[in-house]
Amino acid sequence: MSKELSSRFAGKYAVVTGASRGLGRAFALELSQRGFNTVLLSSNCQILAQCEEIRKKYHVDSQGIVVNLMEKNAIYSAAAEINARYPVFLLINNAGLGGSQPFEQATPERLENILQLNVVATSLLTKLLIDNLLNQDKSFILNVSSMAALAPVGYKMVYPASKAFVRHFSLGLRAEYKGKGLSVSVVCPGAMATSPEIVGRIEKQGFFGKLTLVTPERVARKCVRQILKGKKEILVNPWSFILSSLVPNCIQTPLLTHIVRRETQNPSPNT
Ligand SMILES: NC(=O)c1ccc[n+]([C@@H]2O[C@H](COP(=O)([O-])OP(=O)(O)OC[C@H]3O[C@@H](n4cnc5c(N)ncnc54)[C@H](OP(=O)(O)O)[C@@H]3O)[C@@H](O)[C@H]2O)c1
Repeated sequence: MSKELSSRFAGKYAVVTGASRGLGRAFALELSQRGFNTVLLSSNCQILAQCEEIRKKYHVDSQGIVVNLMEKNAIYSAAAEINARYPVFLLINNAGLGGSQPFEQATPERLENILQLNVVATSLLTKLLIDNLLNQDKSFILNVSSMAALAPVGYKMVYPASKAFVRHFSLGLRAEYKGKGLSVSVVCPGAMATSPEIVGRIEKQGFFGKLTLVTPERVARKCVRQILKGKKEILVNPWSFILSSLVPNCIQTPLLTHIVRRETQNPSPNT
C-alpha cells in the first residue's frame, strides 16, 4: 500500500466488528500494517490489550470498544461513542455466526442469535454510522457475507439466508450511494479455518471443504486491496466463483445439503 493512501486517510479510522479473532483479527492486523488507524469492536475484553499491542507494533492508533452486538442498546451506545470521537472512512461488518444443525434441533435462541448478529447488527451499525462515513471525502463499507449466500442449502438453519440478506443489502446500498463518495463492497468467502469448531466442520466436509478453503489473512489482504479500489463483489477463491456461478442451483443445493448433512451426523461438541 502506498504511503499516499494511508496519508489520505490520516486522522481517520477504520471500524472492524468481531475483531478479536478469526477474520476480524486478520482485518485489524492488515489495516494496521498498512498504516491505518482502527476502532476495533469485540464482545471480548481482550480486545483492549490487542489494541495496545497494535499501537506499539505498528505505530498507528487503535482503540477498542467492548460491545455485545446481540444487544440493540449496546449497538446504539457503541455507535454514539464512535461518532463522537472518530471520523470513520471504512466500516467492516465482519462479526457473524453460523453453524450446521438440523433445523428441528436448533434452539429458537440459536436462530435468533444468528439473525441478530448477521442481519440486525450489520444493518443497524451501518445505519448509525452512515452520516459519519458520508462526512468524509471518500469512504468505504465492506460487509462479510459467505459462499453460503450464493445457493440455498439445508442443515445450515438461517445462516445462508442471513448471508444472502447481507449480500443483497450491500449491493442495494452500493447502488444507492453510487457517485456520493461512499463505495460499498461485499465478500463471499468459502471455508476459513478460524476456530476449532470450524476446522472440525471443514474436515467433515471432505474434498469440497478443502477446495474452497482460504486463510483469513489472505482474505483480509485481498479485501483491503479491493475495497480501496471500489470493487463491488470481492472474490477470494476461484473455486468458490466457479462453483457458485457455473453450477446451477438445482445441482448445488442438493449437493451442498448432502455435504453439510454429513457434518451434522457426528457433530463436534461445539456445533
Ligand atoms: N470461518 C468461515 O469458514 C467463514 C466462511 C464464510 C464466511 N464467514 C464469515 O466471516 C465472518 C468472520 O468469521 P470467523 O470465522 O472469523 O468468526 P468466528 O470464529 O465464527 O467467530 C464469530 C465472530 O463474530 C464475533 N462475535 C460473536 N459474538 C459476538 C457478539 N455477541 N458481539 C460482537 N461480536 C460477536 C466474534 O468476534 P469477537 O469474539 O471479537 O466478539 C467473531 O469475529 C463472519 O461473518 C462469518 O459468518 C466465515
